Amino acid sequence: MKRILVTGALGQIGSELVPALRRKYGSDNVVASDIRVIRREQIGGDGPFEVLDCTHLRELLEVVRRHHIDTVFHLAALLSAVAEEKPQVAWGVNMGGLYRVLEVARQTRCAVFFPSSIGAFGPGTPKDLTPQDTVQRPNTMYGVTKVSGELLCDYYHQRFGVDTRGVRFPGLISYVAPPGGGTTDYAVEIFHAAIRHQRYTCFLDRDTCLDMMYMPDAVRATVGVMEADATKLEHRNAFNVAAMNFTPERLAEEIRLHIPGFAVDYQVDPVRQSIADSWPNSLDDSAAREEWGWVPEYDLETMTRDMLEKLRAKLTGDG
Ligand code: NAD
Ligand code: SER
Repeated sequence: MKRILVTGALGQIGSELVPALRRKYGSDNVVASDIRVIRREQIGGDGPFEVLDCTHLRELLEVVRRHHIDTVFHLAALLSAVAEEKPQVAWGVNMGGLYRVLEVARQTRCAVFFPSSIGAFGPGTPKDLTPQDTVQRPNTMYGVTKVSGELLCDYYHQRFGVDTRGVRFPGLISYVAPPGGGTTDYAVEIFHAAIRHQRYTCFLDRDTCLDMMYMPDAVRATVGVMEADATKLEHRNAFNVAAMNFTPERLAEEIRLHIPGFAVDYQVDPVRQSIADSWPNSLDDSAAREEWGWVPEYDLETMTRDMLEKLRAKLTGDG
């Protein structure tokens, strides 16, 4: 991993993955790209940036060749709630983008990181400690694109020898960039609302349990699986990774330890609730632990403390 391209780099993950990769591999060796145009300082300002639609094969190939890329972190996608609103567009971006990234990787011998999700599971999947290999019959367009993406990555590895790797992320909690329209976004919004207004109206029901992870752990998982010894990987793609799981009510309780008057009420959004109800309560990540040494650093308590501290500093202009 010497010359890296990140697609969808301006999103929730890319905003923290790109700086982390630049610290590790050198700013000039990490090309950030997104379909959106931004001011340079929004992406760290200290490395190359390309405006790139990942569904355009020729442009993708041109950028990969011009920058001598050997590894693509393919983050560009529509998240679950947006994908359910615009399923046809979601198929085009999520599958069209991944297919073209894999084709470019096949032609140029790049490695590819593909982030799957708890959304790759469905109502028929065992809900507690969901195994690595189990029933995957999601009933959302997002989930359909994630399962198809996992399979396509396996296929490109087996058929063409492309070094594809990936994890299934839980909902991600972070303060640098806002989430992009997912079902787990409440777990970020709640921190903003707690600090600004000491109250929050949650769009998921109080006892909806979901797997979650703090962004520093997600970044470590992403880099960790790509740096892992390939000979030890049995699964390669779609490793379950887990750190914590909680309900909105449990998260509110934890925030109340720091902001005692914090109040939460519930106005359930039926679309996002039904997506959440189809996802696991918790994942079994033993394959990731055994095959490449995955261990999370943050739990609910340490994540909540750090999130409140960092977000407060950011919102008051000290961060
Ligand atoms: P995000 O929505 O915050 O960012 C996605 C980025 O992709 C955006 O900046 C958007 O402008 C860009 N994009 C959209 N269409 C594009 C196109 N055609 N070409 C190039 N760029 C395009 O998403 P994120 O939260 O950073 O997630 C990144 C990846 O990780 C996605 O595949 C997502 O499914 C997966 N994932 C995220 C989470 C999470 O909680 N954030 C959890 C599981 C999996
Ligand atoms: N956080 C993501 C979503 O809710 C999970 O993949 O869409």
